[in-house]
Order: sequence, then C-alpha cells, then structure tokens
Amino acid sequence: FLVSKGNHRHFMEKEIHEQPEVISHTLANYLDFSKGMIRAGAAPVDFSKVDRIAASACGTAYYAGLVGKYWFEHIARLPVDIDVASEFRYREMPLSKNSLALFVSQSGETADTLASLRYCKQQGLSIGTIVNVKESTMARESNTVFPTLAGPEVGVASTKAFTCQLSVLASLAVAAGKMRGTITDEEERRLVRELSEIPRYATQALKLEAQIEGISRELSQVKHVLYLGRGTSYPLALEGALKLKEISYIHAEGYAAGELKHGPIALIDESMPVIVIAPHDRWFEKTISNMQEAAARGGKIILITDEKGAAASTLKTWHTIVLPEMPEVITPIVYTLPIQMLAYHTAVFMGTDVDQPRNLAKSVTVE
Ligand code: G6P
Repeated sequence: FLVSKGNHRHFMEKEIHEQPEVISHTLANYLDFSKGMIRAGAAPVDFSKVDRIAASACGTAYYAGLVGKYWFEHIARLPVDIDVASEFRYREMPLSKNSLALFVSQSGETADTLASLRYCKQQGLSIGTIVNVKESTMARESNTVFPTLAGPEVGVASTKAFTCQLSVLASLAVAAGKMRGTITDEEERRLVRELSEIPRYATQALKLEAQIEGISRELSQVKHVLYLGRGTSYPLALEGALKLKEISYIHAEGYAAGELKHGPIALIDESMPVIVIAPHDRWFEKTISNMQEAAARGGKIILITDEKGAAASTLKTWHTIVLPEMPEVITPIVYTLPIQMLAYHTAVFMGTDVDQPRNLAKSVTVE
C-alpha cells in the first residue's frame, strides 16, 4: 500500500495528528451516539457468562490491555489477568472454560501474541482479538474480531493504534458492564456520551504542541527520565517511558507512583526529570504526594494535569502541561497525546530516525 506523509516530517507526526479522526471512526463502530448506547451487535460476546478475561499482548498493545484491565474491573466488575505474550505463552496459566481469551495487536502478526492465541484456542477458549489489520493471521484465527479503525500505521513506534485500542477496550468494558448489570441504562448513556467527547478533547490536546516542543528541547539534553502515574495513568507512565526510549534512545522508566519509595527514589537528583501524569481524578492526591517526595530530592518535575489539578498543586514544577478538565474514563486516551508529542519532539531534537528507530521492527514475527 502507499501512504503519504502529507505535510508532515514523519509518519509518526502524521499519525499523532490523525488521532481525533481515527478515534472517532473507531468509536462509531461500537457506540450509537444518537441513542447514547452501545451499538447492537458491536460486542458479540455474552459477557454475562464470562467469569474472567485472560489477556495478553506485546509492547504498546500490552499497555493498552493494562488500561483495559482497570476499566473491565471497575465498570463491569470482571477480573482481568494480563501478561506480556512472551510470558503468557509458556506460563501454562490455569484457564477455565468461562474465561474469554483477549488479545490486542496492531499488526495481528506478532509471533508471541499469535502463539498465545493458539495456546488458548487449544485449551478450548473463545478467542476475541482487538486488531488493526483485518486480513491478519490473528483476525482469521479468532472467534470474534474487534477492529480498530486506525488505518495503516507506518511509524514503528505505535501511536494512533494505541489510542484506538483504548477506545475499543473502553467501549467493550461499557458493553460488558451493561450485560453484567453492573451499570444502569443511565450510566451507559453517560459513559457513551463521555467517550464520544474523546475526539474533541484530543484536538484540544494537540494544541499544546508548541509548549511541548519547547519542553522537549530541554528533555533532549538529559540522560534518564522517570514517568509516574497511578490507576489508569500507571500504564500511561509505562507507555510514556517506552515511547521515549524507543525513538529518542534516552533511558526512561515508568513506575506506579506508589512504588517510588520502593526503589526509583534512590535515582532522583537534580539531573533527573520526573514526568508525573496526574489528572484531577480519584488518585490525584496520592500521586501529588509522591510528586512532592520526588521534588524534595531535587527531581525536575514535569506535571501533566488539568486546570483543577494545576490549581490544587502548590508545588513549583519545572514545567506543567495543562489539559482541560474531562471525564475520568477518557483521561488515559486523551493524556496519551501529550506523552506521544513529548517523545516525538525529543527524538526530533536528538536527530534520530523517528519512523525507523534502530534495532526495532514494526511487526515482530519471530520469537
Ligand atoms: C513492535 C512494535 C510496537 C508494537 C509491538 C506489538 O515492538 O515496534 O510498536 O507495540 O511490536 O505489535 P502488535 O502489532 O502486536 O501490536
């Protein structure tokens, strides 16, 4: 296929900017915006009969699944076991017949994810796959395909596929909540309305690009970066660190904010930027207190928050990136955009090959 970069310097930049549109297409496949309901037939799995989800994926798709775990457990009260596919495939995890095996993959060809899928199939489980390439091997071998409509993703570091995977996972968690009776019709309407607002908030997030580019210029001078988050922002901390190391080659680590004192705090000094992902949600106060611990050791704080969070935090940060306030359920999707832009612009300042980072492949079809 032939895809052009248009006016963009890199495919990655183009794909970051496409997100409001492709998220909107993806959501429309699952949600009926006019009725404020999950689209009939969009989730052809009887979640009321599922007692556990066994999920696995690799790389960025794994972090999408990790956010999905929080949503399924909170909205649908459905437990999710999730693991990287290279571990899952050899773990011989006890699986019950009422488990749904769920895989997440942009390409639908990643060797370890495919092997995990085949293992679950052998065990007699029903297979659901969230996949971007409809003609892929995983799509063919699944009982249920949940498409992401991100369009072809060329940049090796995944961006738009990730936010589309999250959009599908959030929609499925709402569908599951409905079928399992853990949310009311009114809550379904509210959640569907909130999800429908993602493209608008994503467009607003893109407007922060000039500020983020300025921060990235400074970030490109450092050797190590720590990312912290709690709740659904925890997988985002992992994804932020992955994105930065993949394309800028700067060493980065993502941590659950509460784990700071169990190790990474020892690394913090005046040369260590700490990126704190903290929307003003139910985890905010706790995350901010971890941020203060990092700041007290000299860490240079980059706080990504919303207007309410910025007002509530009295600490003088190195930089604060302020998003509009938004419903809690959509924060992991919208907050991904500043995190991607930060990695992208840092890599551009470093002069790396952003779309084709060294040693990495778009699709890893060997073990
Ligand atoms: C590679 C890519 C990543 C991707 C991962 C999983 O490592 O560089 O961007 O997240 O594979 O790929 P998949 O196609 O299964 O989502």
